[in-house]
Amino acid sequence: MNALKAEFVSSSPNVKNCPDELIPEYVFIGRSNVGKSSLINSICKRKHLAKTSGKPGKTQLINHFKINDSLYLTDLPGYGYANLSKTSKKNIDNLIRDYFLYRKQIHMIFVIIDIRHDPLEIDLNFMSWLIYMEMKFSVIFSKCDKLKKGSTNAEKYMLELTNKLNNTPKYFITSSKNKEGIDKVLAHITNKSYS
Ligand code: GTP
Ligand code: MG
Repeated sequence: MNALKAEFVSSSPNVKNCPDELIPEYVFIGRSNVGKSSLINSICKRKHLAKTSGKPGKTQLINHFKINDSLYLTDLPGYGYANLSKTSKKNIDNLIRDYFLYRKQIHMIFVIIDIRHDPLEIDLNFMSWLIYMEMKFSVIFSKCDKLKKGSTNAEKYMLELTNKLNNTPKYFITSSKNKEGIDKVLAHITNKSYS
């Protein structure tokens, strides 16, 4: 796959201030520090398009990146970062909730999960809310370079997800470090945008 045209469009503090253009949007959401911004950079084959950090809580605004003039990749703040004040946490939770409730352009939701972890209540709660709201989503497991080769963590996770949520989303196993699985996500995005 050739390099994509990828441009930063805007950082918005809330859903009302987001770009108006009616093009399909692919949203990256998950706990803070799981690698959402890094994934966007990997998909776009850029190093610094989305800002990343070793410290959780880096992305605080809603960032839109326009790809090939035809779709948005959207980098949302992470949920569940413990070291924030109660007010900041509530603001981020409200921002995320409003985004999924009111952003009409959403075409595909990617829930990012650090592959090293067992299912966490905060992720299960978020995914069950999406299911309750009848919003379809896929799971992207991140940081697979940190696991031993042949690990079955993702399969175990999906089994537990199916049991707990009665839902089996499509999933991808990726690493932004060694780029494993990134082309599959990209192919999924580009196919979907034309369907
Ligand atoms: P917030 O914006 O704080 O919610 O975080 P985020 O989910 O956007 O995570 P970000 O992309 O900033 O990455 C967090 C840290 O994880 C950074 O130090 C990244 O370099 C690292 N990281 C992200 N993806 C990978 C990966 O696939 N492998 C490894 N080894 N590290 C990764
Ligand atoms: Mg980020």
